[in-house]
Amino acid sequence: MEAKVVTFLHVLFSCLLCLHAKPLQTYIVQLHPHPHGFTPTSSAFPSKFHWHLSFLEQSVSADDSSTRLLYSYTSAMEGFAAQLSDSELELLKKLPGVVAVRPDTRLQLHTTYSYKFMGLTPAREDAWYQSGFGHGTIIGVLDTGVWPESPSFKDRGMPPVPGKWKGICQQGQDFDSSNCNRKLIGARFFTKGHTVASPSSSPANTIQEYASPRDSHGHGTHTSSTAGGASVPRASVLGNGGGVARGMAPGAHIAVYKVCWTNGCYSSDILAAMDTAIRDGVDILSLSIGGFPLPLFADSIAIGSFRAVEHGISVVCAAGNSGPLQYSVANEAPWIATIGASTLDREFPAIVQLGNGEYLSGESMFPGNEFPSTTKEFELVYAPAGGKKGSEFCFAGSLPKVKIQGKMVVCDRGVNGRAEKGQVVKQSGGAAMILANTAINMEEDSVDVHVLPATLVGFTESLRLKAYINSTRNPRARIVFSGTVIGKSRAPAVAQFSARGPSFTNPSVLKPDVIAPGVNIIAAWPQNLGPTGLPEDSRRVNFTVMSGTSMACPHASGIAALIRSAHPKWSPAAVKSAMLTTADVTDHSGNPIMDGDKPAGVFAMGAGHVNPQRAIYPGLIYDIRPEDYVTHLCTLGYTRSEIFTITHRNASCSELLKMNKGFSLNYPSISVIFRQGTRRKMMMRKITNVGRPNSIYSVEVKAPEGVKVRVKPTKLHFKQRNQVLSYRVWFISRKRMTREKLSFAEGHLTWINSQNHLTRVRSPISVTWKRK
Ligand SMILES: *[C@@H]1O[C@H](CO)[C@@H](O)[C@H](O)[C@H]1NC(C)=O
Ligand SMILES: *[C@@H]1O[C@H](CO)[C@@H](O)[C@H](O)[C@H]1NC(C)=O
Ligand SMILES: *[C@@H]1O[C@H](CO)[C@@H](O)[C@H](O)[C@H]1NC(C)=O
Repeated sequence: MEAKVVTFLHVLFSCLLCLHAKPLQTYIVQLHPHPHGFTPTSSAFPSKFHWHLSFLEQSVSADDSSTRLLYSYTSAMEGFAAQLSDSELELLKKLPGVVAVRPDTRLQLHTTYSYKFMGLTPAREDAWYQSGFGHGTIIGVLDTGVWPESPSFKDRGMPPVPGKWKGICQQGQDFDSSNCNRKLIGARFFTKGHTVASPSSSPANTIQEYASPRDSHGHGTHTSSTAGGASVPRASVLGNGGGVARGMAPGAHIAVYKVCWTNGCYSSDILAAMDTAIRDGVDILSLSIGGFPLPLFADSIAIGSFRAVEHGISVVCAAGNSGPLQYSVANEAPWIATIGASTLDREFPAIVQLGNGEYLSGESMFPGNEFPSTTKEFELVYAPAGGKKGSEFCFAGSLPKVKIQGKMVVCDRGVNGRAEKGQVVKQSGGAAMILANTAINMEEDSVDVHVLPATLVGFTESLRLKAYINSTRNPRARIVFSGTVIGKSRAPAVAQFSARGPSFTNPSVLKPDVIAPGVNIIAAWPQNLGPTGLPEDSRRVNFTVMSGTSMACPHASGIAALIRSAHPKWSPAAVKSAMLTTADVTDHSGNPIMDGDKPAGVFAMGAGHVNPQRAIYPGLIYDIRPEDYVTHLCTLGYTRSEIFTITHRNASCSELLKMNKGFSLNYPSISVIFRQGTRRKMMMRKITNVGRPNSIYSVEVKAPEGVKVRVKPTKLHFKQRNQVLSYRVWFISRKRMTREKLSFAEGHLTWINSQNHLTRVRSPISVTWKRK
């Protein structure tokens, strides 16, 4: 099978190389709409495809211009992706009708239990019942594909495929239409951008890569089952975390779009998938993919998702894993729901008992109870003498066999993969491993499956561990595995790695939007892969554990499906507003959600931790029409051509701003920026009553430090359902501009239902003082 893929790719590349001696690059070319639309009589071209091709015919010298066209886009964008040389690029850029050209970019992939943690247990009165488990909604997942035989994609009890669905189950290697059912209703793969950009990556790769929607990496199987997987009893990873595995919206249909391959996820493939998904009829797009923050007009995900949102599709994206660095949040367009990661209150304790009697707390998924011999005492080694460069990280080939044979090896976390370190230790003859966090990971406990007995200790513990190793000539330790423990730790808390705001490209919108579970998430896994995902791992499982904002994103996508199912007519902005204004800011102990050793701020958790139960009935929503985003871009100073690139709308900002004096985007959170010289800011918000008629709300404000906040009016009386009322809020800075270039403060503004005191519509407020 592997050989077949290799040949398939090899033929493709050698052919491309033989035709064009000069290196070609993939570009995404954006066009003005065709001046006469596309009725058969109005245009010289029989289809958009031919029209797009005509641009290549005018710029590409070879007579094979059609072989250069990778994709023709019509729904997520007007334009195409093509391979061009430098000189062809120059010609094409000058053609009338071309709006923007940008090089293709490479992006990265950034529950047996999590549903229970989020207050979703099948009791009559709760969100799952009220929303019909997400029935009738379709979640499109852009990722590494799917393992369709996983029990999470069985369709028992699923309603028929919605009539609006126009997608397909695309045939390919080891995949055909029989792999789709009423749960997994569609599957496609998009590989052209990846194929031309990384010809060498696939053959060299040891993981089998399927030329089909079938998942050879596991990530897509994991994320799509987290969003909408069916109920699977007795799901566990090698005996850990056993329980019912169930997606957030177990009644939703799943459509899989495979866009990520061995060498990453290319924008041209992602756009092609979004383009198709819009026409297929998905309700929600879930993207656990991203890169670094980019200006919106250079960000293909932002551009494609604007069109998706115009079509009423909610786009939910991972915030990225570059936290706790400030300004690291990606996928930050205001029309996207940007999801950070939180921890669950589930632990897998595996305590290290040192030879001197001391204990270090650690966590592990190793099934210790099944292998009693693994808990015996071993000799400890760390960065052994005679080791090669990187032996402290347990790089492949760095550990001398004679020094570690039969011993417990300490490996610093970082650089190479965590499971890979275990593999290296095992191959070098080691008996067990302790993964030691460094200052970067602090106390974060990402639990992995390993090929040998192993545990992970936090940074403080790792210092104690190394001090002990230094202190004695004969360091020894044992690992005591204690299985799964629930409800002991404070949770949710912000995951250290979860990307942080403020938004680098657009600080006027508070990002991330919310956090959702993203640490130690158990979900479906390809049945031909071991739980570590390493090619050498011969164990077989149906589930494995993963961490990342990649895991948080599909939780939020599933919740969006629950909301959509309960309120099919709501706009993507309304769905997002419901998630934001009802999010929790306290943890299960009733105390503030933590971020490391301090309470979490708005740039770490956004509005808070999603609460599906409350999000179904938010009481009030902040709605946004697509044209409002255009006016918003005008207020940010984007040029006409940049705005056109993002929105495909020919906006006259001077007119829009004249028509919308004092415009502020009706976002459910509030971000105030005081630049030097400004001391007052006014914002307007419009809220829609989606609860009962005759509802009265009063405002409660927690003013950010150094800021006076005034709201007018302070009471809102909604006589009818769907009635819209507006309010204004003034922010007056009482703080002198300090010497610091930047300073921040935060608070919140909450509308509380005066009749039941339960419906609380909370908007977090962030304030930034900027010297320049
Ligand atoms: C252990 O000893 C080495 C060499 O003497 C030293 O560099 C290192 O800082 C010590 N580590 C700890 C944690 O004490
Ligand atoms: C995985 O699921 C399949 C289908 O439900 C089942 O037959 C198989 O025994 C499971 N494998 C493991 C390792 O649990
Ligand atoms: C956009 O609007 C301006 C001014 O109204 C006009 O001159 C220009 O031709 C328009 N561009 C397109 C592509 O419609």
